[in-house]
Amino acid sequence: MIEADGLTKVFPGEAKGTTVTAVDNLALSVEEGEVFGFLGPNGAGKTTTVRMLCALIGPTAGRAAINGYTVGQNDQAIRASVGILTESPGMYDRLSAERNLLIFARLYGVPDPAGQARKYLQLFGLWERRGDPAGSFSKGMRQKLAIARAMLHEPRVLFLDEPTSGLDPEAARLVRDAIEQLKGEGRTIFLCTHNLDEADRLCDRIAIFKTRLVTVDTPAALRRRLFGRQVVFHLGRVDGALAETVRALPFVQEVKALDTKLVVRLDEPDTQNPAIVRALVAAGADVQFVGELRRSLEDVYLQLIQTAP
Ligand SMILES: Nc1ncnc2c1ncn2[C@@H]1O[C@H](COP(=O)(O)OP(=O)(O)O)[C@@H](O)[C@H]1O
Ligand SMILES: [Mg+2]
Repeated sequence: MIEADGLTKVFPGEAKGTTVTAVDNLALSVEEGEVFGFLGPNGAGKTTTVRMLCALIGPTAGRAAINGYTVGQNDQAIRASVGILTESPGMYDRLSAERNLLIFARLYGVPDPAGQARKYLQLFGLWERRGDPAGSFSKGMRQKLAIARAMLHEPRVLFLDEPTSGLDPEAARLVRDAIEQLKGEGRTIFLCTHNLDEADRLCDRIAIFKTRLVTVDTPAALRRRLFGRQVVFHLGRVDGALAETVRALPFVQEVKALDTKLVVRLDEPDTQNPAIVRALVAAGADVQFVGELRRSLEDVYLQLIQTAP
């Protein structure tokens, strides 16, 4: 659905004769129906990447294609098949939410403006407030309205550039709910964010990006790759002998005893946990509860970004 290879953008720098490489040799491939997180700090080149992928600015080098259309060759078709939520979308504040959508729907030549406006106002829970001026909306509602606007022409791919930045947690949740709705409809979504929790919650895969692509993987695999998976066995009591019992199992990578818990690092908890439970029970332990210790994605991200060249 989205393909890029060797995609590069070099801007002229502030001082004469200098240049700034915003995006360096980016290769990626996003599948249809995927929610793809594009995660990187400020200035990483996320917005520049989106602009190139949507054929709004030309790449310095490399190629990109959306929905089978090549950037630089079928730009018109690309713009028709993508929706974009930019960093600061403008609305007509004095006009109602519905009127805003109708105006943009007509501007884009959408066949059934009223039907499309209704569809997205309803989908995002704004239908009751459709007659209120956009200027009276909370930040979260405004952002949902902006996403609705980007969806009016039923694009196959939606680019969201930091949709929750600057929003308070409640407003951000409203916007995330809207993204979940679209995800449920099977849309392909390219989500730029520097919010790790958000990427973790919404995305099927996450690219970590800072001028160059650092890595791409599922949120769970990113954690696992760096930390392995850690399982916590809550026991009535823990002694050195119990820790040894677990450590002696051939597939166990590491065991730590903490109060009444054993924290065990494993490759495949799903198949290995039962053997550990059996060994613990045979050694006289009361197994009260078994759970996975989830490392935050933030740990993964910081580690990757810091070690990136
Ligand atoms: N039009 C431009 N002219 C010159 N430099 C630019 C331009 N747009 C972006 N840049 C530079 O490219 C880098 C990446 O910017 P941007 O893509 O906005 O990053 P992000 O969206 O990840 O915060 C920054 O160093 C920025 O200053
Ligand atoms: Mg940006």
